[in-house]
Amino acid sequence: MLRKAVYPGTFDPVTYGHLDIIKRVANICDKLIVAIAQNVAKVPLFTLEERLEMLRESVKDIKNVYVDHFDGLLVDYLKRVEAKIIIRGLRAVSDFEYEFQQALANKKLYPECETIFLVTDSKYAYLSSSMVKEIAKFGGCVKDLVPDIVAKKLYIKFRNENAK
Ligand code: COA
Repeated sequence: MLRKAVYPGTFDPVTYGHLDIIKRVANICDKLIVAIAQNVAKVPLFTLEERLEMLRESVKDIKNVYVDHFDGLLVDYLKRVEAKIIIRGLRAVSDFEYEFQQALANKKLYPECETIFLVTDSKYAYLSSSMVKEIAKFGGCVKDLVPDIVAKKLYIKFRNENAK
């Protein structure tokens, strides 16, 4: 049994693919912190507050999962919350190179930390937050891809944006 683990990500927005990882990790650790972080390469559609709200609502029935956020380096956050385990999901070989680099850099910065990769459920292997946003933007149905609160927020966001 793992003690405390951190699942970092942009979660812009959280999808059923992320939730699959969260539920599976929650089963094998005492406490899982899902932490919204800043990826400098991304400009999120949703504000931090919106992403926190969507994540909190999506995990509210899983008793050992907590939602948080941080600025700066993941390794500094890990030290602050006294965690050494980083969780990441792998969807395809294409994820591997980026994840491998991140894991090595985090290990270099914080040698006691370990990155654990979970293979995403094949149902969600094609899914990404960008894909969900694109489908929603052009009026497609995202109900099987994201929790209800996310589907509603996407609908409102793009209705307002398209009306501008
Ligand atoms: N199911 C569905 N989609 C999944 C998924 C799964 N199981 N796992 C990943 N994804 C998708 C996400 O939807 C996302 O899609 P997008 O690119 O269209 O937005 C993409 O894969 C990866 O996103 P996410 O898992 O949210 O991570 P990220 O790559 O945006 O986040 C951080 C990377 C935030 C963890 C990293 O930048 C970080 O640690 N930042 C803090 C600063 C730092 O320490 N940097 C590292 C220095 S070494």
